[in-house]
Amino acid sequence: MTEQGHELRAGAGADGRESETVPHRVRLRDRDAELRSAEAAVEKLCREFAAGGTEIGELLTFSGRPGIGKTSLLHEVRRIAKLREGATVLFARGGERQSNEPYHVLRQLLQPVLGSLDPAEFRQVMGTWEEVVGPAMGLKQPKAGARRLDPQGVRDGLDYVLTQLAPRRAPLVMIVDDLHWSDLESLAWLASFALRASELPVLLVFAYRDDIADWQPEAQEHQAAVTSLATRRHELGRLTLVSVTDMVRAELGDKAEDAFCYEFWNVVNGNPFEAVALLDQVRDQELDPVEENSQQLRELAVDATGTTLTGWLERLGASTLRFAWACAMLGTDIRPDLAARISTQSPEASRESIKQLRKQRVLTQTPNGNLEFVHPLIGSSIYNTMKESTKTGMHGVAAAEIENAGLGLLAASRHLVETFPGEGDDRTVRKLRKAAQEHLLIGAPEAAQRCLHRALAEPPDDDIRAEVLYELGCSALLTDPMATVNQLKLALDPDEGPLRPSLRVDATFRLSEVLAHSGQLGEAARVCQDEAEQTEDDSAGRLRLEAAAFMWHAYRKSEEDGPARSERLGELCRSLTGREAADRAVLALRAWDLTLRGEPSAEVLRHADQVLDQGRLPKGLGWTDSTWGFELPATLGLSYTYSDRIAQAERLFGDAIVQFEIAGWSGAHRGFAYFLMGLARFRRGLLAEAEDFLRRALRLSERIGPKLPLAWDAVGVLVDTLIARGRTNEAWDLAIGFGFSPPYHATAMVLPDAASLYGKLLLAKGRKAGAAAALTEAGAQLDARGWHNTVWAPWAGHLAVALAEDEPERARAYAERSVRDARRFGTASAIGTALRLHAEIADGQQAVELLEEAVRHLGQSPAGYEHAVALVDLGAALRRVGRLEDAQEFLYQGIELAQHCAADGLVDRARRELANYGLRPNRLGDVREMLSQPEWDVARLAVRGVPPQRIADELGVHLSLVNRRLAAVYRKAGSGPDGLASALGLPPEQREGTEDGREGAAGRDGGTVEA
Ligand SMILES: Nc1ncnc2c1ncn2[C@@H]1O[C@H](COP(=O)(O)OP(=O)(O)O)[C@@H](O)[C@H]1O
Ligand SMILES: [Mg+2]
Repeated sequence: MTEQGHELRAGAGADGRESETVPHRVRLRDRDAELRSAEAAVEKLCREFAAGGTEIGELLTFSGRPGIGKTSLLHEVRRIAKLREGATVLFARGGERQSNEPYHVLRQLLQPVLGSLDPAEFRQVMGTWEEVVGPAMGLKQPKAGARRLDPQGVRDGLDYVLTQLAPRRAPLVMIVDDLHWSDLESLAWLASFALRASELPVLLVFAYRDDIADWQPEAQEHQAAVTSLATRRHELGRLTLVSVTDMVRAELGDKAEDAFCYEFWNVVNGNPFEAVALLDQVRDQELDPVEENSQQLRELAVDATGTTLTGWLERLGASTLRFAWACAMLGTDIRPDLAARISTQSPEASRESIKQLRKQRVLTQTPNGNLEFVHPLIGSSIYNTMKESTKTGMHGVAAAEIENAGLGLLAASRHLVETFPGEGDDRTVRKLRKAAQEHLLIGAPEAAQRCLHRALAEPPDDDIRAEVLYELGCSALLTDPMATVNQLKLALDPDEGPLRPSLRVDATFRLSEVLAHSGQLGEAARVCQDEAEQTEDDSAGRLRLEAAAFMWHAYRKSEEDGPARSERLGELCRSLTGREAADRAVLALRAWDLTLRGEPSAEVLRHADQVLDQGRLPKGLGWTDSTWGFELPATLGLSYTYSDRIAQAERLFGDAIVQFEIAGWSGAHRGFAYFLMGLARFRRGLLAEAEDFLRRALRLSERIGPKLPLAWDAVGVLVDTLIARGRTNEAWDLAIGFGFSPPYHATAMVLPDAASLYGKLLLAKGRKAGAAAALTEAGAQLDARGWHNTVWAPWAGHLAVALAEDEPERARAYAERSVRDARRFGTASAIGTALRLHAEIADGQQAVELLEEAVRHLGQSPAGYEHAVALVDLGAALRRVGRLEDAQEFLYQGIELAQHCAADGLVDRARRELANYGLRPNRLGDVREMLSQPEWDVARLAVRGVPPQRIADELGVHLSLVNRRLAAVYRKAGSGPDGLASALGLPPEQREGTEDGREGAAGRDGGTVEA
């Protein structure tokens, strides 16, 4: 727990559950319906949970004007909920002054309960999110060397944590008061969590002002969301005349006249807060509650909330008011010692102030010994009586005192940003910059930016101004690309002051990164090139920028001088002397360049293998490494994917997913990692898995914005995957719905080649003319660029198929060219697929021969689906030349493999092929051929009644593995334990081993266990 914990844990008891903070109960008038609803909500939650329910959550909201009675109702809900045995009640409230303090509300809400978990439970609840949620919730310091957190990552982490926590602490009641003042970080999550609450045993209770003007502009969409999600929604109305009359008479006695009460009700407009305040006044002024005095009520009412400075001064006196101001700065859960120091009062004087303020019903004490305004309206009123200069001055004192009290820069910075700039104070600038870094580490970039903007306004010394601009630019990297671009451009602008050379390189790289991510790849490459030319003394920095320029060019949709660039990259590569990260980066880029050009894959791999360090990414080139960004390892993984070293690629992509998760980079990064994994799985023919990864990538991308390059990538491969699975119409609908058609993404290259994918889709839909046009165009563009990889862009092979009927000559030329290009690249999968496509336009014996060769190649590649297609095609071709027996064998093989790939369309095609020619649509399987050796080992023992644990011991493998193998055996044999022996053609069950020594031993063991 951090030191801030002390300040933040409003009302939290040591046991982590909140202690009683409601000293006395007020009789709530005209709120029967609301109370019944609250009671029913709590009752339902507890009852359904006790009955084993889990997806039983609800959202209960109370909204209305200030003073209408929201907080009072929440107190009742807390009381009701706490009476229920086993229920956990969490409470937090937003504060007007703290609405800029990141996670202010969520820390109050969750720290007590998370902080009270024992270490083992804490680890389970946190899962892999400890380094993300922990720092954001103020439960631990960020790890040394930690990177900035992505706010989306924090939200995802919180989702995970609450999903873990809720069932453990259910029934769970989470109450948030004054949600309209919630900091945006908390609010964004709460609003999204409200949507999921129904899936958990959680009752959410929110109270807020419904006037939109009370919400920060950025919060307004959340208000709409929360309001629409509430299952029980209560807008609190004013109290009735009867109730107010009752309140008046309860206080002033029955002598209060009807006319007086009526006027009283009118003046306070049925608002209970105003009624209570006015009653105080009436009592203080000893006003007789008779008709004649009704007129004076209006004047008294103005005073009741003490809106003017004079009003407060008269009521409190200067010294006490100053203390009240200090309290107003601090907002909620006010530490008296801090307030005393901020108002520069001695302990005795402050005690006197507190006494006075309590007497005047301005402040009240909370059970943890802190202070609170009796109502936030009073706090606001007092704060607003401060002159601007007093305010800024006092915020400065507050910042210093909060730091002195050991509460940390994060807590102090909220005040620092409110201080008056213009002093040019170095120390302030330093503090603000440090606070900004700390905010980035808890996933609060907006707060970091507020600090840095304020630092710029200070202003900083001329020689560090550009550095602050650079930090400002970097602070928005994960969230606000446009702001980043502008700020980094400013940082690099010599007119803004000098930037340290090492930072210039980094700022340029970051700028290019953001430009690239927003699709301006040409511009990204250009800024790197320009800066590289001007970077003289720093050769590593220059190499970094040169390499980056190559990288962005490679990701461009088109470029003017592709072949020349490739030449230059080759030269740069040959000139490398060391094996530093930058050298390896160049090698990785070269490997990718060679891949796209379709140069021999042996060359690709020779380069790629020099990048890795014992099969892993080297230091400095990691997925979350900020020196290079994720594109670089991505290109390396792609090179492996296309060179048939998919296992290696999958290892890299798997690392990416895990590392982005741990770092809390939940946006485009994680989405891209899913995409890459989806692509790798697709290449392997694991189509169902590919589909799952790709859909996840697409979802993440859409969460960030519409039609990002990532979405194009994901949709393209997803379309390809769906076609492979035989769901062409679904693929078509997806493509049309997304708009996956020429001219594709305006600037960024789609991975893999979009035009080829589109052509394939048209072909699959039978639109040959359209396909031919799209593929011809694709070929022209790729040729100009010097890219001839037939796997990346299989345009030629498919163009041949599209042209086969109308222009057989051209078709043959394309098919042969595709085979030639594939042979040059040289991977088994490339050659096999090109041959298969060639066979599609060939007849008779020639087709058979092409496919036989295709199958030979594909059989040595990891491209499972391509292999399956070739097998089925070969079967069909053999059937056409009358070799039915051979045809049958290949079709069976094709079916098996297609089933493994989840390529249902292909399975159907093969079955039809068999059925149409009177062949059996299924192999009458010999079970014994279908069992693997390990499965056989298990089966033999099982047949003799050896129990699984014994089998595990006997074979020296884990029990769970034995069970898995047994399940496979039963499935393949089509029998459970009873009929297993006969299904496998083994002799009937025997108790003792008889065949050989090993089985004998197993038999003995089996016997003892049975006993
Ligand atoms: N239904 C009610 N009947 C009587 N008094 C009430 C009622 N609701 C609120 N009050 C009183 O009015 C004052 C303001 O209520 P509060 O719950 O703080 O309002 P809000 O949270 O909506 O601003 C409190 O002093 C409270 O005791
Ligand atoms: Mg309230």
